[in-house]
Amino acid sequence: MSNSKTNMNNIDDVIKSLNSKTLRVCVIGIGRIGLPTALSFAKSGLDTIGVDINENLVNNINSGKFPLKDEPGYDKIFEDVIRNKKFFATTNIEDAVPNSDLILLSLPTPMDENNIPDYSALRNVASKLSEILSPNSLVIVESTIEPGFIEDDMISLISKSGRLNILENFFIGVCPENANPGEILHDFTHLPRLVGGINDDIRKIIKTIYNFVFSVELIEMPNCKTANAVKLTTNVFRDINIAFVSELSLMFEKLGIDTNVVLEAAKKKYNFQVHYPGAGVGGPCLPINSYQLLNTAKRTGSNLSIIEHGRKINEKMPEHVIELTLDAFNESQKSIQNSEILILGVSYKPNVKDIQLTPAEIIIKKLQNLGAKVRIYDPYFSSKKVFDIQVEQNLEDIISNIDAAIIVTGHDEFTKIKLSLFEQMRNPVLIDTRGIIDPISAKKSKLVFRGLGRGKF
Ligand SMILES: NC(=O)c1ccc[n+]([C@@H]2O[C@H](COP(=O)([O-])OP(=O)(O)OC[C@H]3O[C@@H](n4cnc5c(N)ncnc54)[C@H](O)[C@@H]3O)[C@@H](O)[C@H]2O)c1
Repeated sequence: MSNSKTNMNNIDDVIKSLNSKTLRVCVIGIGRIGLPTALSFAKSGLDTIGVDINENLVNNINSGKFPLKDEPGYDKIFEDVIRNKKFFATTNIEDAVPNSDLILLSLPTPMDENNIPDYSALRNVASKLSEILSPNSLVIVESTIEPGFIEDDMISLISKSGRLNILENFFIGVCPENANPGEILHDFTHLPRLVGGINDDIRKIIKTIYNFVFSVELIEMPNCKTANAVKLTTNVFRDINIAFVSELSLMFEKLGIDTNVVLEAAKKKYNFQVHYPGAGVGGPCLPINSYQLLNTAKRTGSNLSIIEHGRKINEKMPEHVIELTLDAFNESQKSIQNSEILILGVSYKPNVKDIQLTPAEIIIKKLQNLGAKVRIYDPYFSSKKVFDIQVEQNLEDIISNIDAAIIVTGHDEFTKIKLSLFEQMRNPVLIDTRGIIDPISAKKSKLVFRGLGRGKF
């Protein structure tokens, strides 16, 4: 690794270091987003260190075990950059940061049990950087933050030791991450990225660096807060629209209208952007991003009631899944108490191994409170324990002991299950919350079927 320091405020110096591959990169937070980011920087030929407080993760990475099995393409990149010694991980931030020119922050920005955004990881690391960042370094925040967080919080935290002054001897900007779990390599190489800096020069320098690593369109924002506002706007747009179609679907159910038929036709109109109803909205982004903007509204004395209402609707959808289940049990004249209910899919979205804020957890708790015994089948968690329940390995082995199956996640694998398999259930109740079962075929079968938003057939 090179020992020479790049002046990150000087574009010629930065370009020289990029071309000679001497720019030293440190990514702090090497989880779902940070690790692929670090691997991309390393793949471009830059010496990259990943810093994380999770010792297990760091040890696994350094012993060649790739932790993100559901991120196609990155396993190979991981192997290559570890073999070429372009990347390693450490828990030692004090060693990693002073020897780096560029510090990327991909730290978690969750919320607490009262839905208040929690920026403690960013705040802690910023305070640490205040003591150990070497002069003339550039910090780029990729984490999802509220507009104004860089300007109001990060700069003063990094300056607080008195060693560093913004635009004198340290520089900051943002490049909010917008990749989808499960498709990160594709998204990193295709999706446009937003770039914001503390001034125009820094923005251009960040653009030059990201251009070097990722060949995607880089959208220049006037400042950091606008870039973060765009990131939140795009995700909250989805949260609100899912709430809209979910609420519509509740009414369509009563009218005997199939919401999926409505949406398939509606999306033919050029300016309709389709979203689908479901069991609820989870994951590390959408629910939190809505609460982040609501927090910004509170701070600024603004009103974002549409987001508030959207959240309430999305948070009520798991309860509707229970209503559909009770209704189906009623029709089959069986009590839910002591019944065995199979949850198909615990991930918060299809085809990923991720249960952060998944609606499945709420549905499972509600079913347990009603006295049901819950079993889980999810190919991404096979043989593991999730929410204290051992995940089943094989559907065929257990299906005849099941009294109801609820499709909570639309994993591709579930679209291949034949209705005849569900017909083998002891009490053939099937609830589909993701629109993957054709209600007309279900009606013709032996099943007592309820499809969320599909109406009674
Ligand atoms: N996962 C997504 O789908 C997604 C998509 C776009 C943006 N984002 C945003 O990216 C950011 C990171 O999210 P993620 O999903 O990668 O989170 P993650 O939880 O998968 O990874 C975060 C990593 O940071 C580490 N960490 C926590 N505190 C630390 C500290 N003080 N010092 C060093 N390491 C620390 C954790 O151990 C973890 O490995 C968040 O702001 C998130 O909102 C996530």
